[in-house]
Amino acid sequence: MPGLVIVGAQWGDEGKGKVVDLLAEQADVVIRFQGGNNAGHTIVRDGETFKFHLIPSGILYPGLTCAIGNGVVIDPRVLTEEIDGLRQRGVDVSGLRISANAHLIMPYHVLLDTAGELKLGKLEIGTTRRGIGPCYADKASRLGIRVQDLLDEKILRQKVRAALAPKTQALKELEVERKKLRKKGGAEDWDARLDLHAIVEEYMRYGHRLEPHIADTAKLCWEALDRDGTVLFEGAQATMLDLDHGTYPFVTSSNPVAGAACIGAGVGPRDIDEVWGVAKAYATRVGAGPFPTELDDETGERLRERGGEVGTTTGRPRRTGWMDLVALRYAARLNTISSLVITKLDVLSGIDPLHVCTSYRHPEGAVFDEFPYHQSIIHEAEPVYEELPGFEQDIGGARRESDLPKEAREFLDAIAESAGAPIRLVGVGPGRDQVVWMGADAPDLRAAA
Ligand code: GDP
Ligand code: IMO
Ligand code: MG
Repeated sequence: MPGLVIVGAQWGDEGKGKVVDLLAEQADVVIRFQGGNNAGHTIVRDGETFKFHLIPSGILYPGLTCAIGNGVVIDPRVLTEEIDGLRQRGVDVSGLRISANAHLIMPYHVLLDTAGELKLGKLEIGTTRRGIGPCYADKASRLGIRVQDLLDEKILRQKVRAALAPKTQALKELEVERKKLRKKGGAEDWDARLDLHAIVEEYMRYGHRLEPHIADTAKLCWEALDRDGTVLFEGAQATMLDLDHGTYPFVTSSNPVAGAACIGAGVGPRDIDEVWGVAKAYATRVGAGPFPTELDDETGERLRERGGEVGTTTGRPRRTGWMDLVALRYAARLNTISSLVITKLDVLSGIDPLHVCTSYRHPEGAVFDEFPYHQSIIHEAEPVYEELPGFEQDIGGARRESDLPKEAREFLDAIAESAGAPIRLVGVGPGRDQVVWMGADAPDLRAAA
């Protein structure tokens, strides 16, 4: 032991990549357990920026086993590009392992995701258009193509043929979109993306490239856990985007909550010792859907600007708002968060007073301290705020709890008390060293087991 899960406690982009990178120093295995290249995890090391979409955020430690678990959906085109990009930068990717059971994002999944968004005439869900939803849908329909299918051309061809067949109606609809896209010059490889032979040929090439990395990734986790090693389960997306527990249908198509680490990596609940929930000191959301604490004003703009709130994957500006403690309490319980990481505290300096949302008030008068199960309430509710004193200082250089201004510490205390979980780590800048371990030095994960 131990097994430690890292999850997003809000709407994504909380800084999970940076936290995984920090903790991976003490890990034997880092494994992604859900999502795909809709994720964008950023690590800033010595002023150099790395953005990972599929490869686990532990890859910067040479030789460390970094696994893409069975619960992830893999676009092999993106994965091979990511591998090549890292190699060009001198990063050792020999520790990369890919589950043979993970599902593959196929060219038609990307088309269906794009057309699905276009068809509505507006970006209703605002997906990343990476084919995530259609790929998970095929997985559930038992029409998915798995990594291991790349190793057998006959099987691959059979399965791709079977997967393409029931999409006739959707493909007809795609024709309309194709004409629109053609005018804009974005439909060059459209035919190839629907051509059985071209697909099989392209994917067999990926199979040859990826074969040395294909493995039984669950077994790698068991072996590490059974010899008292440390396994980090790296979550993508976040609690409020969870297919079952988030603000459906404005969610992703996987389960980013901690419980899904078991399914998506192939371990049992008793293999998990700790769950770290990562939250920003404020809130952001990319794409559509309810966001009770959203700010459409100067403060919101300031958070976006100072926090560099632009989507890592799609480049869309992120919506910004105040810290939502109702949602954070929900995330703490749902994930059984044992420790909180609060990132981007530095972004709040110079804003006074600070606000945290402590409950929701429905226009008809009801007050909700707990996250309401009825989606309509979340859409209509107004946030009830508690005001807290702000701080002026630039805290980018803080390294110990005592370096933080009193007001910043009080702000953190209010969050921890409300969420019912201790804050272990605070982010004061994008750099790897720009963190404050609360009350102590960095933990010794092995000793904690
Ligand atoms: P992830 O998807 O959860 O890994 O987060 P992203 O990488 O998409 O977005 C987080 C952004 O915030 C990245 O650009 C990080 O470099 C940056 N970041 C992380 N922690 C901090 C912090 O404490 N302060 C500041 N200012 N930026 C941070
Ligand atoms: P990381 O791991 C923030 C959002 C999309 C959209 C919704 C569904 O970097 O935190 P999808 O393409 O998954 O079907 O889109 O989910 N979304 C994210 N938002 N961070 C992410 O990942 C996200 N991955 C998906 O913007 O609203
Ligand atoms: Mg991100």
